[in-house]
Amino acid sequence: MTDQTAIPAGIDLREEIDRLRKERNAVILAHYYQKPELQDLADFVGDSLELSKKAAETDADVIAFCGVKFMADTAKILSPEKIVVLPDMEAGCSLEDSCPPDKFRAFREKHPDHIALTYINCSTEVKALSDVIVTSSSAETILEQIPDDQPIIFGPDRHLGGYLNRKFNRDMLLWPGVCIVHEAFSEKELLKLKAEHPEAPIAAHPECPPTIIDHADHVGSTSSILQFAKTFPGDTLIVATEPHIIHQMEKALPEKTFLGAPGADGNCNCNICPYMALNTMEKLYLCLRDLEPRIEIEEGLRLKAKASLDKMLEMASGTIGKGDLGDPDA
Ligand code: 13P
Ligand code: SF4
Repeated sequence: MTDQTAIPAGIDLREEIDRLRKERNAVILAHYYQKPELQDLADFVGDSLELSKKAAETDADVIAFCGVKFMADTAKILSPEKIVVLPDMEAGCSLEDSCPPDKFRAFREKHPDHIALTYINCSTEVKALSDVIVTSSSAETILEQIPDDQPIIFGPDRHLGGYLNRKFNRDMLLWPGVCIVHEAFSEKELLKLKAEHPEAPIAAHPECPPTIIDHADHVGSTSSILQFAKTFPGDTLIVATEPHIIHQMEKALPEKTFLGAPGADGNCNCNICPYMALNTMEKLYLCLRDLEPRIEIEEGLRLKAKASLDKMLEMASGTIGKGDLGDPDA
């Protein structure tokens, strides 16, 4: 674990992070669910697919990943020659935790005629056991390339899988995992908020349960929700995903109002991802300074996991921003 007492007193963290970024030839990647101060100093902020692509393309020597562990693992799988650091190695994901590799292997063995289409929010071991990885912005395009009569296992997010099944009339077998953040939205509280703002559309991430999705005007990945926020004609938008994304909306459209969808207690604090929230400026500074904690993956495992990620990048190529789950014309 990183020793935060090792931070010299009185330093300007932002300046030091900038200095280290240059000294290390590092690129800082951040997900939209990161704290605003981390989003603001990142070289690139994006959704899971965009961040994977950036990690594969960058010519930096070091990737400092402000996100969760499966995202930093993905960066290392795609860029093994680079040093990949994660500010807090405890930054996990409830979806990854829900899907232990041995149980996933047994599930696959029970259904030998099925291919495994797997959400990127999983461990490297589960990626290695999968045929094709998807993100929420590539799932639709990829699913459409798979013949209707091909049986599919979809894991670990049962809500994303269920949404795809309903939208495309598929019958994928679903792993029973959920995102604890999206699971915490309350339909009752959402409808109360909607009654106070009847003109405001609702944008929801497909990790939400159907009780939330059914009320949404737009369903899609974080980047597609952001795109919707930039183009919807009204003044107020209700956002049913992790609320740190609202930072980008307020920066782009300061004249509009963005309301985080509520949890059961009527406010949205329970919808802050506790794993993403572990990353801080202090920990980012320390990981750039010490080049620890570092992601390491055994080469045989990495190559197996890379095959399913490469398949995703190939099948999703040229489709970023098009054919997204959130594209109403798709
Ligand atoms: P996207 O940014 O790909 O929509 O993923 C959301 C998420 O939950 C990441 O953990
Ligand atoms: Fe995992 Fe949900 Fe947090 Fe994303 S928001 S990292 S899916 S727990």
